[in-house]
Amino acid sequence: MRQQLLNTKNQALALINEASSPEEIERLRIAFLGRKGKINQLLKKLPDLSKTEKAKVGKLANEVKQAIENALNNKLQVTSYKLQVADEFFDTTLPGKKPEVGHLHLITQAIEEITDIFTKIGFIRVRYPEVDWDWYIFEALNMPKDHPARDEWETFFVNEKPDPKKGKMVLSVHTSGGQIHEMHRLKGKPPIRMLNIAKCYRRQQDVTHTAMFHQFEGLVVGKGINITHLKGVLDHFAQMWFGKGVKSRIRPFNFCFTEPSFEVDFTCSNCMGRGCRFCKSGWHEVGGAGMVHPNVLKAGGVNTKKYTGFAFGWGVERILSLRLRLDDIRLLYESNLQFLEQF
Ligand code: DAH
Repeated sequence: MRQQLLNTKNQALALINEASSPEEIERLRIAFLGRKGKINQLLKKLPDLSKTEKAKVGKLANEVKQAIENALNNKLQVTSYKLQVADEFFDTTLPGKKPEVGHLHLITQAIEEITDIFTKIGFIRVRYPEVDWDWYIFEALNMPKDHPARDEWETFFVNEKPDPKKGKMVLSVHTSGGQIHEMHRLKGKPPIRMLNIAKCYRRQQDVTHTAMFHQFEGLVVGKGINITHLKGVLDHFAQMWFGKGVKSRIRPFNFCFTEPSFEVDFTCSNCMGRGCRFCKSGWHEVGGAGMVHPNVLKAGGVNTKKYTGFAFGWGVERILSLRLRLDDIRLLYESNLQFLEQF
């Protein structure tokens, strides 16, 4: 009887395999598993068997029933899916639908590109706190308390108890405070080749300013560092960022933390310096630079008899909007997909 059960199972599985419609599958279900089906017919002889044989056959019968049941259910699923697909017209020549792929925000892309340009020539990317003490942001940068130059940086103060030594807590107004942190990190020992990129905050808002923006700051300190090194780095960056033929120009200026200080211009990449509606003079101002003031080096613990340094600090949004010729910097922050998806 066991053999008969196994034969019935094989027969059922073969027939189920060939079935091609839900109706056929239902017919097979009744033929094999129905009340008067083949399995039950076989089991009618069960009472004639010995007790041990009964138990064995009973167990096998259950396994056979289960196997047929599973085969029927699987086949039913496959055939109904096939029928469904056959019902729908499917044009295999249609082009596929591409899933929408996002990308990093423009500012993030710019930060990565700037990092790449400078790290390739030996700068080390660092980040320092965006909420900092007055001492790092002003005092150590040669701007003592009540110095009028502080007015330039429209500072947000944080409502926090002042530190007896480091003064009030502020939102960092520029990345220059990172110069001091970096000199301290390296215990005042050159070579120092810092690239600090961070968010800065000022009380300002118009077509060329946002209350939160990004700056990148370079600091190089070592033996015999002079203005020609600074100029070389500026020209290199100008070409890498804006393209071949773009040069830098430095003009005398005043910052407390550099001596001499400069404002840095780059050739307008729209007219290549001839002068156009966009630039007027052939140049665009990008930010400040200079030779690090000895007082700043001292605050950072650097021996000013042995070492000199240069520094520069520019706005990420500024150089980005110059390259893209944006007339309103706030576009960068409006989360307007029609704008952002162009890049
Ligand atoms: N910290 C200045 C600002 O925010 C920019 C700057 C000027 C940075 C001269 C420098 C520098 O490192 O040497 O306007």
